[in-house]
Amino acid sequence: MSKKEVILTGDRATGQLHLGHLAGSVLKRVELQETHDQTILVADMQGLTDNGHDPKKVSENILNVVADYLSVGIDPTKTTICLQSKLPALAELTMFYSNIVTVSRLERNPTVRNEIKNKGFDKVIPAGFLNYPISQAADITAFNATLIPVGDDQLPMIEQTNEIVRKMNSIVGKPVLSECRSLLSDMPRLPSLDGKTKMSKSAGNTITLDVTNKELKKLVNKMYTDDNHLTIDMPGQIEGNVVFSYLDAFYKDKAHLAELKAHYQRGGLGDGQTKKVLLECLIELITPFRKRRQELMSDKGELIRVLKEGTEKSQIITGETCEKIKQGLGLSLF
Ligand code: TRP
Repeated sequence: MSKKEVILTGDRATGQLHLGHLAGSVLKRVELQETHDQTILVADMQGLTDNGHDPKKVSENILNVVADYLSVGIDPTKTTICLQSKLPALAELTMFYSNIVTVSRLERNPTVRNEIKNKGFDKVIPAGFLNYPISQAADITAFNATLIPVGDDQLPMIEQTNEIVRKMNSIVGKPVLSECRSLLSDMPRLPSLDGKTKMSKSAGNTITLDVTNKELKKLVNKMYTDDNHLTIDMPGQIEGNVVFSYLDAFYKDKAHLAELKAHYQRGGLGDGQTKKVLLECLIELITPFRKRRQELMSDKGELIRVLKEGTEKSQIITGETCEKIKQGLGLSLF
């Protein structure tokens, strides 16, 4: 048995990964696979919790997401990649945990509340959607994960997971489940290209890894900068300036970036120039990802093989946790 700390992380499979995901935690995971026992969950079941009537939105994106991970450097010999819907223990654990969490506690979860508002679910919340923090607790605990690299929007999920862990352990009378902690990205959350709405590929306000240089140029050009920066010599504002948010996340030469910022704030640096710097930076970042992604997508059989292998490995560990819970509850008679 390896002594490395166990990481579980994942993304809903409702669309391709975009630069927001990379800055959020996906690039961090590439580093973490060197030092940790890491599993990435392709959360197709969670993706269905708000797309129950449109399963294609999820099914069509499963391999997209796997290709995205592999193209940025997730190495399946170091990171286990698995598919949530093929791990029945997660669904079973969700059922057990659902009995020790109240509906009002779920309704109080700040992330769920926000999403209910944004998705217009006010009076018509799918039961599965309200329940997804419980299902996420099942994901995390089933793998005995103690470290969860996520964006800050996921903190309420970690908190709720630990509540479930403590309750379940006290019911069972011994520490069958482990508490976990989050690992937050050191990069601030990336805004959408217009700086206002939620990132989504269909709205054209995000940057996915299959973007061509020509498309990238268009996307960078339409990034929101500063409405009051009317001429080049006027002082410009960094806060809320999408170009600088992306530079903060991805531009490697931090000393030069500090100079660019000072120059912009002082006046004399145009948005055309800052966008040119960003475009070059993003072309350098994305080109190798796009090429690898294209190759990967041309052999879907191989992507499926990777996902199947990781899932089979995960079936064992998650099944063991589920059995421990059944034993702890006195249900495992045979
Ligand atoms: N909730 C995460 C998201 O919206 C996806 C997710 C599902 C997850 N299960 C998880 C993240 C377990 C970390 C650990 O992107």
